[in-house]
Amino acid sequence: MFSDELKKHRLIPVVVIDDAQDAAPLADAIVSGGLGCVEITLRTSVALEAIKTMAKRTDIVVGAGTVLNIEQAKAAVDNGSRFIVSPGMSVSLVEWCLKNNVPVFPGCATPTEIQLALEAGLRTVKFFPAEQLGGVKMLTTLGSVFQTVQFMPTGGITSENLEDYLAIKQVVACGGSWMVQSQWIRNRRFSIIHDEIQRVVKLLH
Ligand code: 3PG
Repeated sequence: MFSDELKKHRLIPVVVIDDAQDAAPLADAIVSGGLGCVEITLRTSVALEAIKTMAKRTDIVVGAGTVLNIEQAKAAVDNGSRFIVSPGMSVSLVEWCLKNNVPVFPGCATPTEIQLALEAGLRTVKFFPAEQLGGVKMLTTLGSVFQTVQFMPTGGITSENLEDYLAIKQVVACGGSWMVQSQWIRNRRFSIIHDEIQRVVKLLH
């Protein structure tokens, strides 16, 4: 199960990358900081190239985020993406991923969306945007209702609230962009990214 793989990492940096040249040093910073997983969002024109660069490495698992349709999922997988993350629950996207054995984490914000994901055959969903939806309190309630569902909360998570989310037993991992801020990537401040990840990884153990 790929959710077991996520459970090992506990934290997934969510990246918006503007220059494909930054993919290699960014992967170096993430790995040397102590994480082995990354989500590259398909929000920029270089995202697929960045995925391709990082996917060549064996020390980091690369997934694609902000995947909105089957075409984007196919392109991400063709470029080496090992998993697909979507902001919302698209039945057709989930079905395509399941048919092609690609782990997929659709964003669910309501009980109805969680039920759609369950009906499609999933057991692990993204809870997005976590903080804006009511954070730990809301997720605890959803978890008590949907006891077989595992969650990957994302949206507004920082080193301040990370531990509270991870303390919920159905949370496999949290996603967040705060440790890989676009301005740091753009300004090639990879040492800051390394340091922030290293600091946060200490909280995980
Ligand atoms: C996502 O794409 O999952 C979110 O943009 C990440 O949320 P954050 O930027 O609040 O961490």
